[in-house]
Amino acid sequence: MNKEEFIQEYAVERQHTNAVKWDALKDAFGSEDLLPLWVADTEFKAPKAAINALTKRVLHGAFGYSFTPKSYYDAYFNWQKQRYGIELHEKWLRFGTGVVQSLSVLLQTFTEPEDAVMVLEPVYYPFMRIIKENKRKLVVSNLVQTAGKYTINFDDVRQQMEENNVKVLIFCSPHNPVGRVWSEDELNKILELCRQEQVIAFVDEIHHDLITGDRPFVSALSVKDGFYRDNMVVVDAPSKTFNMAALLNSHVIIPNPQLRDRYDECVSRLALPAGSLLGRVAAEAAYREGAAWLDGFLKVVRSNFAYVKEELTKEFPTIQVSELEGTYLMWIDLSQVVGAKEVMRTVKEKAKLAVDFGEWFGDAGLGYIRMNLGTTPDNIEKATSALISALKENNA
Ligand SMILES: Cc1ncc(COP(=O)(O)O)c(C=O)c1O
Repeated sequence: MNKEEFIQEYAVERQHTNAVKWDALKDAFGSEDLLPLWVADTEFKAPKAAINALTKRVLHGAFGYSFTPKSYYDAYFNWQKQRYGIELHEKWLRFGTGVVQSLSVLLQTFTEPEDAVMVLEPVYYPFMRIIKENKRKLVVSNLVQTAGKYTINFDDVRQQMEENNVKVLIFCSPHNPVGRVWSEDELNKILELCRQEQVIAFVDEIHHDLITGDRPFVSALSVKDGFYRDNMVVVDAPSKTFNMAALLNSHVIIPNPQLRDRYDECVSRLALPAGSLLGRVAAEAAYREGAAWLDGFLKVVRSNFAYVKEELTKEFPTIQVSELEGTYLMWIDLSQVVGAKEVMRTVKEKAKLAVDFGEWFGDAGLGYIRMNLGTTPDNIEKATSALISALKENNA
């Protein structure tokens, strides 16, 4: 599907629909008068096939207890196999209502209070929140940034794992917010480190369908033909891919039977729900028939990225934009134009934009913003122009 067709068919106004991104601005930013480019969801309807399947199911009218049908596994497994060569098995898969919820349960399953859990910052901040709220010790290794490209400091990761006796690494692949799609070599190195240091890898692959650059996505499950599978849990979901976060359906993939038993025991003790009926109905249809939709969506994201990058760097050559290999989240360093500590005030109060501010992702993010590109070109043009005017005003 081309970009114009996609926008024509799927763009939708979300204001006054209880959308966190649009209707909860006051709580999050203290003002309603902002253009929202923060929460990672989009201004596009889910694929038609998903909406039709939901409509049919809703019109049936009975919503009693339900289980995951074989057809769901088929649809999801085919999607993973055809697009990425990932071989999955029913017995590996568990369901949750969200990736963050599952990560928190996984922490409770595989670590004890005070155990050390590592993240690579800057990174999606709920990782740090659940580590702290579960009373685990947060250990940070900073990614290294060179000319807008982030890489892993493997020596530092090893040293910190050893010094802190790290039990778990929560690893984001592709990486929110820096937009990296990790190469097989990088994945191999980090998973090998985890193996050597006896650290379980929780690999969050929720952004794996959102590949915007040339580097193909490789699942941690496939590295070295599955060599590291016994030492990892992979979490993912159809929610970022098809804009269905509120349908509460996510995946937990645990190939190792011993780890799986421990997880099952914890889920049973906490009596946790296994996803949702409507979430499964929508996702199954999207996995079967949503490829053209995703293709159209990614064209919008690539085009929005190119537009913002060109406009910003034309006006301000010192703005550093990280290349977008994956995700629909653009990571922009404004610190050379406004000074790191002034970024928040300038963007919020002058440009009137609600973005995610870099420091939310860890200290290394100070001076950056994360801009959500999963919206209409119209919103993107308005936001870019407002940002440029605010930066000019600041520099005048
Ligand atoms: C890396 C990452 N993990 C998890 C989530 C949220 O997933 P869920 O809504 O399923 O908890 C997000 C949302 O932005 C994300 O970027």
